[in-house]
Amino acid sequence: MTYKLPIKLYDVTFHNRLLNSAGCWCTTEQELTDLLESHCGGIVSKSCLFEPYKGNPHPRVFYNEVLSINSTGLANQGYLFYNNIGKEITKFKPYIISIGVKNIDETFKMIQSIEKNQYCDFIELNISCPNIIGKPILGYNISECLMFFSRLFSRKDHHAIINNTNKLKIGLKLPPYFDQVQLKEMSDIINTFPIKYICSINGMPNGLVLNEFHEKVIEPNDGIGGMGGCVAKPFGLSNVKSFRRLLPTLPIIGCGGISTKKDIEDYFSVGASLVQIGTQLIREGPSCFERLLKN
Ligand code: DHB
Repeated sequence: MTYKLPIKLYDVTFHNRLLNSAGCWCTTEQELTDLLESHCGGIVSKSCLFEPYKGNPHPRVFYNEVLSINSTGLANQGYLFYNNIGKEITKFKPYIISIGVKNIDETFKMIQSIEKNQYCDFIELNISCPNIIGKPILGYNISECLMFFSRLFSRKDHHAIINNTNKLKIGLKLPPYFDQVQLKEMSDIINTFPIKYICSINGMPNGLVLNEFHEKVIEPNDGIGGMGGCVAKPFGLSNVKSFRRLLPTLPIIGCGGISTKKDIEDYFSVGASLVQIGTQLIREGPSCFERLLKN
Protein backbone atom coordinates (compact mmCIF):
# COMPACT_ATOMS: atom_id res chain seq x y z
CA MET A 1 0.00 0.00 0.00
CA THR A 2 2.57 2.49 -1.19
CA TYR A 3 -0.03 5.25 -1.36
CA LYS A 4 0.34 5.73 2.40
CA LEU A 5 3.99 6.72 1.97
CA PRO A 6 5.29 10.21 1.30
CA ILE A 7 6.24 11.04 -2.26
CA LYS A 8 8.44 13.74 -3.64
CA LEU A 9 7.46 15.57 -6.85
CA TYR A 10 10.46 17.74 -7.70
CA ASP A 11 11.22 19.60 -4.44
CA VAL A 12 7.76 19.08 -2.92
CA THR A 13 7.07 16.24 -0.48
CA PHE A 14 3.45 15.10 -0.21
CA HIS A 15 2.71 13.45 3.16
CA ASN A 16 0.90 10.58 1.44
CA ARG A 17 -0.49 10.08 -2.06
CA LEU A 18 -4.13 11.03 -1.53
CA LEU A 19 -5.34 14.53 -2.43
CA ASN A 20 -8.73 16.13 -2.85
CA SER A 21 -9.84 16.80 -6.39
CA ALA A 22 -10.12 20.48 -7.36
CA GLY A 23 -13.66 21.67 -6.74
CA CYS A 24 -14.40 19.19 -3.96
CA TRP A 25 -14.38 20.51 -0.39
CA CYS A 26 -11.97 23.30 -1.24
CA THR A 27 -13.94 26.47 -2.01
CA THR A 28 -14.33 28.16 1.38
CA GLU A 29 -11.90 28.87 4.20
CA GLN A 30 -13.79 26.35 6.40
CA GLU A 31 -13.50 23.60 3.78
CA LEU A 32 -9.81 24.23 3.24
CA THR A 33 -9.28 24.17 7.04
CA ASP A 34 -11.16 20.84 7.18
CA LEU A 35 -8.76 19.43 4.58
CA LEU A 36 -5.77 20.78 6.51
CA GLU A 37 -7.03 18.91 9.58
CA SER A 38 -7.79 15.73 7.60
CA HIS A 39 -5.35 12.97 6.62
CA CYS A 40 -4.98 14.08 2.99
CA GLY A 41 -1.38 14.31 1.78
CA GLY A 42 -1.79 17.69 0.10
CA ILE A 43 -4.50 20.16 -0.84
CA VAL A 44 -5.87 21.41 -4.16
CA SER A 45 -7.93 24.62 -4.29
CA LYS A 46 -11.20 25.18 -6.09
CA SER A 47 -10.51 26.22 -9.69
CA CYS A 48 -10.39 29.98 -9.37
CA LEU A 49 -10.91 32.93 -11.65
CA PHE A 50 -9.49 36.44 -11.50
CA GLU A 51 -12.56 37.77 -9.67
CA PRO A 52 -14.85 36.08 -7.14
CA TYR A 53 -17.83 34.53 -8.90
CA LYS A 54 -21.16 33.26 -7.57
CA GLY A 55 -21.48 30.49 -10.15
CA ASN A 56 -24.65 28.80 -11.41
CA PRO A 57 -28.05 28.59 -9.68
CA HIS A 58 -28.65 25.89 -7.03
CA PRO A 59 -29.09 22.96 -6.89
CA ARG A 60 -25.91 22.54 -8.90
CA VAL A 61 -24.36 19.38 -7.42
CA PHE A 62 -26.07 15.99 -7.04
CA TYR A 63 -24.73 12.60 -6.04
CA ASN A 64 -25.93 9.10 -5.24
CA GLU A 65 -24.15 5.75 -4.63
CA VAL A 66 -22.85 5.42 -8.18
CA LEU A 67 -22.41 8.88 -9.65
CA SER A 68 -22.20 12.60 -9.21
CA ILE A 69 -23.17 15.39 -11.54
CA ASN A 70 -22.29 19.04 -11.17
CA SER A 71 -22.61 22.33 -12.93
CA THR A 72 -21.17 24.64 -10.31
CA GLY A 73 -20.15 27.16 -12.95
CA LEU A 74 -16.78 28.07 -11.41
CA ALA A 75 -18.22 29.54 -8.21
CA ASN A 76 -15.06 30.73 -6.43
CA GLN A 77 -13.67 33.42 -4.14
CA GLY A 78 -11.24 34.91 -6.63
CA TYR A 79 -7.60 33.90 -7.05
CA LEU A 80 -6.28 36.31 -4.40
CA PHE A 81 -8.22 34.46 -1.71
CA TYR A 82 -6.71 31.10 -2.76
CA ASN A 83 -3.30 32.71 -3.04
CA ASN A 84 -3.38 34.43 0.35
CA ILE A 85 -4.69 31.42 2.25
CA GLY A 86 -1.73 29.49 0.85
CA LYS A 87 0.54 31.37 3.22
CA GLU A 88 -1.00 29.39 6.09
CA ILE A 89 -1.66 26.10 4.25
CA THR A 90 1.90 25.71 2.96
CA LYS A 91 3.23 25.75 6.53
CA PHE A 92 1.61 22.33 6.95
CA LYS A 93 0.86 20.66 3.63
CA PRO A 94 1.73 20.94 -0.05
CA TYR A 95 -0.78 23.22 -1.75
CA ILE A 96 -1.84 23.34 -5.38
CA ILE A 97 -3.79 26.32 -6.68
CA SER A 98 -6.14 25.28 -9.45
CA ILE A 99 -6.83 27.99 -12.00
CA GLY A 100 -9.93 27.78 -14.17
CA VAL A 101 -8.74 28.70 -17.64
CA LYS A 102 -11.60 30.77 -19.00
CA ASN A 103 -9.88 33.90 -20.26
CA ILE A 104 -6.27 33.52 -21.37
CA ASP A 105 -5.09 37.03 -20.47
CA GLU A 106 -6.57 36.74 -16.99
CA THR A 107 -4.94 33.34 -16.61
CA PHE A 108 -1.53 34.86 -17.35
CA LYS A 109 -2.15 37.67 -14.85
CA MET A 110 -3.11 35.18 -12.14
CA ILE A 111 -0.07 32.97 -12.78
CA GLN A 112 2.27 35.95 -12.71
CA SER A 113 0.83 37.21 -9.45
CA ILE A 114 0.83 33.76 -7.78
CA GLU A 115 4.43 33.17 -8.82
CA LYS A 116 5.54 36.34 -7.09
CA ASN A 117 4.19 35.28 -3.70
CA GLN A 118 5.07 31.59 -3.88
CA TYR A 119 2.30 30.67 -1.44
CA CYS A 120 1.71 27.44 -3.33
CA ASP A 121 3.76 24.50 -4.54
CA PHE A 122 2.12 23.95 -7.92
CA ILE A 123 -0.35 25.66 -10.17
CA GLU A 124 -2.85 23.26 -11.73
CA LEU A 125 -4.24 24.73 -14.92
CA ASN A 126 -7.72 23.41 -15.37
CA ILE A 127 -8.20 23.16 -19.13
CA SER A 128 -11.13 20.82 -18.75
CA CYS A 129 -13.98 22.67 -17.03
CA PRO A 130 -17.16 21.27 -18.60
CA ASN A 131 -19.46 24.00 -17.29
CA ILE A 132 -18.48 27.23 -18.99
CA ILE A 133 -21.65 27.71 -20.98
CA GLY A 134 -20.95 28.71 -24.56
CA LYS A 135 -17.23 27.86 -24.28
CA PRO A 136 -15.70 24.67 -25.63
CA ILE A 137 -13.45 22.60 -23.37
CA LEU A 138 -9.93 23.88 -24.08
CA GLY A 139 -8.36 20.45 -23.52
CA TYR A 140 -10.32 19.08 -26.48
CA ASN A 141 -8.98 21.70 -28.86
CA ILE A 142 -5.48 20.55 -29.69
CA SER A 143 -4.47 23.58 -31.78
CA GLU A 144 -5.79 26.05 -29.16
CA CYS A 145 -3.82 24.18 -26.49
CA LEU A 146 -0.69 24.46 -28.59
CA MET A 147 -1.18 28.23 -28.95
CA PHE A 148 -1.99 28.64 -25.26
CA PHE A 149 1.08 26.74 -24.03
CA SER A 150 3.32 28.44 -26.59
CA ARG A 151 2.28 31.83 -25.23
CA LEU A 152 2.40 30.69 -21.61
CA PHE A 153 5.91 29.27 -21.73
CA SER A 154 7.41 31.98 -23.91
CA ARG A 155 6.46 34.89 -21.66
CA LYS A 156 9.40 37.14 -20.85
CA ASP A 157 8.65 37.03 -17.17
CA HIS A 158 8.61 33.24 -17.30
CA HIS A 159 12.26 33.19 -18.35
CA ALA A 160 13.15 35.82 -15.77
CA ILE A 161 11.59 33.66 -13.09
CA ILE A 162 13.32 30.51 -14.31
CA ASN A 163 16.69 32.24 -14.28
CA ASN A 164 16.03 33.32 -10.73
CA THR A 165 15.55 29.64 -9.94
CA ASN A 166 12.01 30.44 -8.72
CA LYS A 167 10.80 27.87 -11.18
CA LEU A 168 7.17 27.77 -12.14
CA LYS A 169 5.66 24.41 -11.46
CA ILE A 170 2.67 24.03 -13.69
CA GLY A 171 0.50 20.94 -13.94
CA LEU A 172 -2.60 20.32 -16.05
CA LYS A 173 -6.03 18.97 -15.21
CA LEU A 174 -7.12 17.15 -18.32
CA PRO A 175 -10.53 16.12 -19.57
CA PRO A 176 -11.23 12.46 -20.30
CA TYR A 177 -10.21 11.48 -23.82
CA PHE A 178 -12.31 8.88 -25.60
CA ASP A 179 -10.03 8.29 -28.56
CA GLN A 180 -6.42 7.07 -28.72
CA VAL A 181 -5.53 9.55 -31.49
CA GLN A 182 -6.54 12.44 -29.20
CA LEU A 183 -4.44 10.98 -26.38
CA LYS A 184 -1.42 10.81 -28.69
CA GLU A 185 -1.90 14.36 -30.01
CA MET A 186 -2.30 15.77 -26.50
CA SER A 187 0.76 13.84 -25.29
CA ASP A 188 2.86 15.26 -28.12
CA ILE A 189 1.89 18.77 -27.06
CA ILE A 190 2.50 18.13 -23.36
CA ASN A 191 5.91 16.72 -24.25
CA THR A 192 6.89 19.98 -25.97
CA PHE A 193 6.51 22.14 -22.86
CA PRO A 194 7.93 22.11 -19.31
CA ILE A 195 4.69 20.82 -17.80
CA LYS A 196 5.44 19.23 -14.44
CA TYR A 197 2.55 16.81 -14.07
CA ILE A 198 -0.85 15.94 -15.45
CA CYS A 199 -3.99 15.07 -13.52
CA SER A 200 -6.29 12.75 -15.47
CA ILE A 201 -9.31 12.83 -15.53
CA ASN A 202 -11.67 15.70 -14.79
CA GLY A 203 -15.42 15.00 -14.74
CA MET A 204 -16.95 13.49 -17.84
CA PRO A 205 -18.69 16.35 -19.60
CA ASN A 206 -22.21 16.59 -20.91
CA GLY A 207 -24.03 14.10 -18.70
CA LEU A 208 -27.72 14.24 -17.76
CA VAL A 209 -29.23 12.57 -14.69
CA LEU A 210 -33.00 12.42 -14.16
CA ASN A 211 -34.92 11.60 -10.98
CA GLU A 212 -37.84 9.17 -10.60
CA PHE A 213 -40.15 11.76 -12.18
CA HIS A 214 -37.82 12.17 -15.18
CA GLU A 215 -36.83 15.63 -13.95
CA LYS A 216 -33.35 17.08 -14.00
CA VAL A 217 -31.50 16.79 -10.65
CA ILE A 218 -29.39 19.94 -11.07
CA GLU A 219 -30.81 23.29 -12.10
CA PRO A 220 -28.27 24.88 -14.51
CA ASN A 221 -27.81 24.20 -18.18
CA ASP A 222 -30.93 22.02 -18.68
CA GLY A 223 -29.64 19.65 -16.00
CA ILE A 224 -26.50 18.84 -17.98
CA GLY A 225 -23.14 18.73 -16.19
CA GLY A 226 -19.84 16.99 -15.48
CA MET A 227 -20.07 13.40 -14.19
CA GLY A 228 -17.95 11.74 -11.54
CA GLY A 229 -18.12 8.64 -9.36
CA CYS A 230 -17.99 4.95 -10.37
CA VAL A 231 -19.04 5.74 -13.93
CA ALA A 232 -15.83 7.73 -14.45
CA LYS A 233 -13.37 5.10 -13.25
CA PRO A 234 -12.93 2.95 -16.40
CA PHE A 235 -12.18 6.11 -18.40
CA GLY A 236 -9.85 7.49 -15.74
CA LEU A 237 -7.94 4.23 -15.71
CA SER A 238 -7.66 4.02 -19.50
CA ASN A 239 -6.53 7.64 -19.75
CA VAL A 240 -3.86 7.22 -17.06
CA LYS A 241 -2.64 3.97 -18.64
CA SER A 242 -2.44 5.56 -22.09
CA PHE A 243 -0.67 8.70 -20.84
CA ARG A 244 1.78 6.50 -18.88
CA ARG A 245 2.74 4.75 -22.12
CA LEU A 246 2.91 7.97 -24.17
CA LEU A 247 4.73 10.08 -21.52
CA PRO A 248 6.85 7.53 -19.65
CA THR A 249 8.54 9.91 -17.19
CA LEU A 250 5.86 12.53 -16.48
CA PRO A 251 4.22 12.31 -13.02
CA ILE A 252 0.50 11.50 -13.32
CA ILE A 253 -2.17 12.16 -10.70
CA GLY A 254 -5.00 9.71 -11.26
CA CYS A 255 -8.58 10.85 -10.72
CA GLY A 256 -12.02 9.46 -11.43
CA GLY A 257 -14.29 7.22 -9.40
CA ILE A 258 -12.05 6.48 -6.42
CA SER A 259 -13.88 5.39 -3.28
CA THR A 260 -12.05 2.25 -2.10
CA LYS A 261 -8.48 1.05 -1.53
CA LYS A 262 -8.85 -1.20 -4.59
CA ASP A 263 -9.68 1.88 -6.70
CA ILE A 264 -6.50 3.60 -5.50
CA GLU A 265 -4.39 0.50 -6.17
CA ASP A 266 -5.90 0.18 -9.65
CA TYR A 267 -4.74 3.73 -10.46
CA PHE A 268 -1.24 3.03 -9.14
CA SER A 269 -1.11 -0.20 -11.17
CA VAL A 270 -1.56 1.76 -14.41
CA GLY A 271 1.06 4.36 -13.55
CA ALA A 272 -0.37 7.07 -11.27
CA SER A 273 1.99 8.56 -8.66
CA LEU A 274 -0.76 10.20 -6.61
CA VAL A 275 -4.56 10.27 -6.77
CA GLN A 276 -7.26 12.88 -6.29
CA ILE A 277 -10.61 12.07 -4.73
CA GLY A 278 -13.72 14.00 -5.73
CA THR A 279 -17.20 12.47 -5.58
CA GLN A 280 -16.39 10.25 -2.58
CA LEU A 281 -15.00 13.25 -0.68
CA ILE A 282 -18.29 15.08 -1.21
CA ARG A 283 -20.27 11.98 -0.14
CA GLU A 284 -18.26 11.06 2.92
CA GLY A 285 -16.46 14.24 3.91
CA PRO A 286 -12.72 14.61 4.64
CA SER A 287 -12.72 11.57 6.97
CA CYS A 288 -12.54 9.49 3.76
CA PHE A 289 -8.77 10.04 3.75
CA GLU A 290 -8.33 8.52 7.21
CA ARG A 291 -10.50 5.51 6.25
CA LEU A 292 -8.53 4.89 3.06
CA LEU A 293 -5.19 5.15 4.87
CA LYS A 294 -6.20 2.85 7.73
CA ASN A 295 -5.00 -0.78 7.71
C1 DHB B 1 -16.41 23.34 -12.51
C2 DHB B 1 -16.53 21.99 -12.79
C3 DHB B 1 -15.43 21.29 -13.21
O1 DHB B 1 -15.44 19.97 -13.49
C4 DHB B 1 -14.23 21.94 -13.36
O2 DHB B 1 -13.19 21.26 -13.78
C5 DHB B 1 -14.13 23.27 -13.07
C6 DHB B 1 -15.22 23.96 -12.64
C7 DHB B 1 -17.56 24.12 -12.08
O3 DHB B 1 -18.66 23.95 -12.62
O4 DHB B 1 -17.41 24.97 -11.18
